[in-house]
Amino acid sequence: MIRATKIDEVKANVREWKKAGLTIGLVPTMGYLHEGHASLIERARRECDKVIVSDFVNPIQFGPKEDLATYPRDFEADCRLCEGLGADLIFHPEPDEMYLDGFHSYVGVDTLSTELCGKSRPIHFNGVCTVVSKLFNITEADKAYFGEKDAQQLAIVKRMVRDLNFNIEIVGCPIIREEDGLAKSSRNTYLNEDERKKALIIHQALTKGEQMVRSGEKDANKVKETVRSIIESEPICRVDYVEIVDWNELQKVDTIDGPILTAVAVYMDEKVRLIDNFIVE
Ligand code: PAJ
Repeated sequence: MIRATKIDEVKANVREWKKAGLTIGLVPTMGYLHEGHASLIERARRECDKVIVSDFVNPIQFGPKEDLATYPRDFEADCRLCEGLGADLIFHPEPDEMYLDGFHSYVGVDTLSTELCGKSRPIHFNGVCTVVSKLFNITEADKAYFGEKDAQQLAIVKRMVRDLNFNIEIVGCPIIREEDGLAKSSRNTYLNEDERKKALIIHQALTKGEQMVRSGEKDANKVKETVRSIIESEPICRVDYVEIVDWNELQKVDTIDGPILTAVAVYMDEKVRLIDNFIVE
């Protein structure tokens, strides 16, 4: 597996691969890889000739009070995992390789970025769209793989690709969970044993909400209230939001009569912010 830290190294490999007529799959990540990331890499491995994993904690998608400095990192472990899964190249640039002095160009998707996580993380999705656009240009990938764990991110990236005519197919992949149901996340490492146990309430609340929707409940507020009250029954959980939006435009719905995303963000002990969701197509 090639380890590249420079954009030109990635481009040189891509040029060779393209000349040989090979297809390229890209898995963008911020590292500290777990089985959720692995599922995307495995899918890319099955569907593409060459697989590039980017491993870059993107500073411009973190707000000033967020966890950029403490975001967990273990590049050697990431390399072992990627190599084991048969990735061809891992791209691990320094921030100043991605953002040159005088960097002033940003990509953003309106409306979709202001709901859900956009409310408490106002600059987040512009940072995501900008880095993802750069990665698409650097790797010239045919397909890029994103998890439904970050459902709003997936919807926004799909819309950006459609609106701006990027030559890439976005593949959404299901949420990978711990055995007890907690969605896998690099940020789970911030939880102590007690918080980790109590975080399970998020999955339990969403499971109840999903059962209601699948058995025909049309009143979005009733579903949201049920999910919220289950989560709030655990005193260390503070709900940032529980929202039901339509799965295309990410706008709030009162009545459930089409594809919906039910998404939650919860602060554990005011320290760790966890997100989870379910989609009913
Ligand atoms: P990161 O949080 O590292 O996630 C990288 C990719 O892995 C995302 O597409 C995310 O949805 C997916 N993923 C994470 N946990 C998952 C799980 N439990 N099941 C399935 N997929 C999961 O998301 C980012 O990084 C960044 O915003 C990025 C897109 C790389 C831009 O910087």
